[in-house]
Amino acid sequence: MDINEANKHHWQTYPAGTTPGIDEMPSPELLDSLPKTARILDVGTGTGHLADSLAERGYAVFGIDLNPQEIAADDARGTTVAYSVQDIIAGTDFPEHSFDLVMFRYTLTNIHWSGWEQLGREVGRLLKDSGYLWLAEPLVNDAYATRYTLAEQVLDEPHTVFVFSDPGKAKEIVNADQLQQAEKDGAVSRIIRHYTEAEIAELFPGYQVLTQEHTEHVSPSGYSLSTLVMTLQK
Ligand SMILES: C[S@@+](CC[C@H](N)C(=O)[O-])C[C@H]1O[C@@H](n2cnc3c(N)ncnc32)[C@H](O)[C@@H]1O
Repeated sequence: MDINEANKHHWQTYPAGTTPGIDEMPSPELLDSLPKTARILDVGTGTGHLADSLAERGYAVFGIDLNPQEIAADDARGTTVAYSVQDIIAGTDFPEHSFDLVMFRYTLTNIHWSGWEQLGREVGRLLKDSGYLWLAEPLVNDAYATRYTLAEQVLDEPHTVFVFSDPGKAKEIVNADQLQQAEKDGAVSRIIRHYTEAEIAELFPGYQVLTQEHTEHVSPSGYSLSTLVMTLQK
């Protein structure tokens, strides 16, 4: 299976309005430091809740996503957010230095690691000088140790997680053969990657880390997840 294509296919065909609910938001301090006319980009906007809530505060907000159904549903709400189908890895059609703030919430984790270099370059191109980057993304977590080990035997990449269409399946798979069989049976919906704080900081070299904190979640398959909420400045 070509993981990159499989993940893309997953998100391009995911039913609208059903991306997992995550509620981290840029801090009031970060929002207060933006000009009233700030232009904000939400990458992998999904259900658009984050983009809509910032647009309600008067900013010029843009939401992009791979998923055309999601973007159509977002558009249909008739908010002021400019939603469009775009792939951050392939490069977007926004001019350089378009944004005061670029946001990723549970999006980086869904982007295949082979695309990270292009992603870093595109974010650098889109952000204004001294612009902000805000992330809320799941960190490498001990609770996933067994799943990382199994996945690494199949993929030779650390900290990847096979996500099953049936979340209950995650705890039933205990060896690499079962994992490969599940993949052949079409039970794997996508493969995500968890990152360390150091890996995320390395992706954006030269940025200054302004704030960094953790929030706790439980995944749909019942695993503890720690989310890194981070603000960087270009
Ligand atoms: C887990 S959802 C998160 C949605 C949203 N950010 C939120 O916080 O609710 C991940 C989203 O990233 C989108 N996505 C994945 N790869 C992408 C890419 N290369 N470019 C743009 N969007 C992408 C998916 O279509 C999906 O809607």
